[in-house]
Amino acid sequence: MIAGNTYWQNESHSTTGINIDKHAFNTMKVNTNIIHTKVNFDHGRYLSLLISDIHFDNPKCRRDILKNHLETAVERGAKIRINGDFFCIMQGKYDKRASKDQLRPEHVGPNYFDLVVDEAIEWFTPFAHHIEWISYGNHETSVMKRNEIDVLKRFVDGINAKTGSSIKLGGYGGWECFSVTKGGHSSKFNLKYMHGFGGGGPVTKGTIQHSRMQTMVNNADVLWMGHVHELYIMASVKESAHFGKSLHIRHNVSWDIRTPTYKDEFIDGSHGWHIERGAPPKIIGGIWMDMGWKRIQRGGDDVVVSDFVFSPCVGYI
Ligand SMILES: [Fe+2]
Repeated sequence: MIAGNTYWQNESHSTTGINIDKHAFNTMKVNTNIIHTKVNFDHGRYLSLLISDIHFDNPKCRRDILKNHLETAVERGAKIRINGDFFCIMQGKYDKRASKDQLRPEHVGPNYFDLVVDEAIEWFTPFAHHIEWISYGNHETSVMKRNEIDVLKRFVDGINAKTGSSIKLGGYGGWECFSVTKGGHSSKFNLKYMHGFGGGGPVTKGTIQHSRMQTMVNNADVLWMGHVHELYIMASVKESAHFGKSLHIRHNVSWDIRTPTYKDEFIDGSHGWHIERGAPPKIIGGIWMDMGWKRIQRGGDDVVVSDFVFSPCVGYI
């Protein structure tokens, strides 16, 4: 379990000009790649389950573990955020990666894409009101390129219509900007999500890509990626100089978060594409993001400090 602080100067309000609705967790989509979430911390901390790379329709998706984690999220009052590759969906007619042993029996039919999407809507219905947003991964965009169909949008539109939920559809990358209030004070922080790119690397596990992203992204309190089916929680720290009651240096923390997968490709290590290329077993699950904040003195200034706790949410095989 890892706890840490990111430092903000206390501010009276966000720059958006949107009034903060007290006593509410409220999320709305501002445009294609920005989601604005208002959180009031007067009544406690704000817990999220961050997951990615579910590959829900793949026979190797550990739906038993996924179900357990989603039910735990509901029990804990957590919100669920999903960062790409919700679907695997590689068995279409024009997909050269298609393989019959990768097809679940319930997805066999002339309307393959419809069957996958409709089954996902039914399966996720009990969790629909707990999901804040879902964004694209390379598996969804690949299907769009090959087949001219947006399966993720069909899923989101379908489950929202069925359940009355308001799941937002993100981009391949984007931002979730939080306006937060507590005890009459307000501040803000930013989560940058990006599904991911490239391979993870057997030793570095994708941490180099986070370092690259940190050179391109500014002002992200959390930088979240998936895609390479690894799990890590690291901190990138940069210094900055502040005028205030005294000139002083602050250490600004950006959390580098990588969520793994729910697809177990290794199984018993005996055979398959994953084994022949020398790929290792992967951890199954996601990461809990437990958000809180507090006020401290820094350099003579009254400063709002984030108090984040990240912890693995994993199922063991
Ligand atoms: Fe991916």
